[in-house]
Amino acid sequence: MNTPSAKQVEPGQLIGVGVGPGDPRNITLKALEALREADLIFAPCSSPESEGRAEGIVRQVLPDVELSRLIFDMSPGETGVQARLRGAKAAARTLVALLLKGQTLAFVTLGDPNVFSTFSLVAKEVATLAPEIRIKTVPGIMAFQEVAAMSGLNLLDETEKLFLVTAVEGTEDVQESLQHPNAAVVIYKGGRQIAAIKQILKEAGRLEGAVVGELLGLEGEQIALLEAITEPKISYLATVIAPPLRKGSHER
Ligand SMILES: C[S@@+](CC[C@H](N)C(=O)[O-])C[C@H]1O[C@@H](n2cnc3c(N)ncnc32)[C@H](O)[C@@H]1O
Repeated sequence: MNTPSAKQVEPGQLIGVGVGPGDPRNITLKALEALREADLIFAPCSSPESEGRAEGIVRQVLPDVELSRLIFDMSPGETGVQARLRGAKAAARTLVALLLKGQTLAFVTLGDPNVFSTFSLVAKEVATLAPEIRIKTVPGIMAFQEVAAMSGLNLLDETEKLFLVTAVEGTEDVQESLQHPNAAVVIYKGGRQIAAIKQILKEAGRLEGAVVGELLGLEGEQIALLEAITEPKISYLATVIAPPLRKGSHER
């Protein structure tokens, strides 16, 4: 039982911080502020020895900052999903122990923390273990925004729509979204089946003007017309954009 003099420790705060797709100049001032103010920064990685992408970005802007790694299995398929969930549960236990001591923790993620990010998995587990912890996010520039900017593509106009689909498990969602001529289709996680995506876009009459950005801001970066890609597979970190069908050119 607490004595009247015993001090209650205020639980800390968990902040998911988006650091953009790769180029460190895409980190926002708000993200930098959150990273500087955090007691500890955590970054996802695939093994304890390997620096994750988000960690690499942070180290370029804050070289002296202390950063801890949390391991997540990034394999595709159901095995990967289950392994990531186990990783998120383990990460949440580590984080909650520190959060309950009142620490403010930042968890960095590639792009935005609310879009296809390990942060949402971790945040859910933290909330289950300790509902009193405050959780917030700092948005990050997303890969497709960088692809649009780098390729000079005006993504949406007037009443056009946007589909953001993944192609890691198959191309059904790509096919379905292409049935809407007035929608831009952004494809994430499709690098390993880029040849199939190219073929589908061609058959739908949407290959012209489609662009791909691979490893943006990272070693091996390329930004190209999808038409020009001849490899059957490119990096997992690749983003395709098929712009809406328009009467004029896709270029500005
Ligand atoms: C797990 S999701 C992360 C998405 C991220 N949270 C966002 O907001 O953009 C990974 C996918 O994002 C895209 N992506 C992230 N970083 C990228 C980069 N540097 N270059 C190209 N695509 C990238 C790719 O489509 C990749 O398969």
